[in-house]
Amino acid sequence: MVSDARDAVLGIETSCDETAASVVRGGQSVMSSVISSQLDLHARFGGVVPEIASRAHLDLLLPVVSEALSGAQVEGPSLAAVAVTTGPGLAGALLVGVSAAKALALAWGVPYVAVNHLEGHLYAASLEEEKLEYPIVTLLVSGGHTMLVLVQSPGNYRLMGETVDDAAGEAFDKVARALGLGYPGGPAIDAMAKKGDPSAIPFPRPMMGAGLSFSFSGLKTAVTRWVREHPDAEVADVAASFQQAVVDVLVSKAATAARQVGAMGICLGGGVAANAQLREAIVEACAKEGMAALLPSKAMCTDNAAMIAAAGWHRLRSDGPSPLDTPAEPDLSLVAHTA
Ligand code: KG4
Ligand code: ZN
Repeated sequence: MVSDARDAVLGIETSCDETAASVVRGGQSVMSSVISSQLDLHARFGGVVPEIASRAHLDLLLPVVSEALSGAQVEGPSLAAVAVTTGPGLAGALLVGVSAAKALALAWGVPYVAVNHLEGHLYAASLEEEKLEYPIVTLLVSGGHTMLVLVQSPGNYRLMGETVDDAAGEAFDKVARALGLGYPGGPAIDAMAKKGDPSAIPFPRPMMGAGLSFSFSGLKTAVTRWVREHPDAEVADVAASFQQAVVDVLVSKAATAARQVGAMGICLGGGVAANAQLREAIVEACAKEGMAALLPSKAMCTDNAAMIAAAGWHRLRSDGPSPLDTPAEPDLSLVAHTA
């Protein structure tokens, strides 16, 4: 059976190493969400190899799109729009998704909508919780970004603070490499930290108490230097102490931001949001502040196309379709938006 899809948006996401497509109805109801991870292709290189990512997207995207459409029982020409991540991300990887989305929108005669990947992350929580109370503060922590965003209502947001150097996930990955824990580093440190003492080593809490900006480059250097100088140290203690330092800073700044704007809750997004200790600490901080802790599932925190389809649906309503010459923009930043 093919259902009426006039309110359904096909989202496409190829900004990094996940090839994803999803159909979301009314910006809210996920009809299908298909994610093909390239993790295995990149793991032996210790990080994402851009050229390999682009080629894998080329191979995987159309099958992934077909699966998303058939899973949702919709046909392309009946969609409300095709939405795609145009940035930020890897140039070649973005181009695969953007070119495919434009071609499909043209062939099906439906609108094309350009979506900022970071804006997509802001919609992840609303796809799992129907009744979100706004305003909320979203702590977006991934391999490429660390930011605090005030979301007043869907589509109305502004940046409150971000990292001045490395992203939190980048620090996890680099520290994991220094500890010989492999790639991706976040889950490895998360697991190892459970066996260690988080107060064993007093690593610095960078920029703690100094506004809403973050810095993780110095912490990463402090940990790698400590490891070099203490070759016999317990790896679990180093992992736990490093993770505690990162979590302390993230949670303290998120709580400060939420207090400043009278937020109803703090929401987590991005790959680092899968971190068990971060999730626990956010729940604790929110309980203390009398706010809701909004913790989307791991699949919704990490890169997916449902969040892109949801953002595309809202953008279509607020700004209309995007011109077909809207380019891929690897360095696209998150600018305040009012729907
Ligand atoms: O959002 P994401 O899947 O991709 C982008 O960076 O856009 O985030 C990946 C990052 C990596 O740096 C990875 O090490 C980190 O998220 N990560 C974690 C955990 N799972 C993934 N960091 C800490 N604890 C985890 N459990
Ligand atoms: Zn992301």
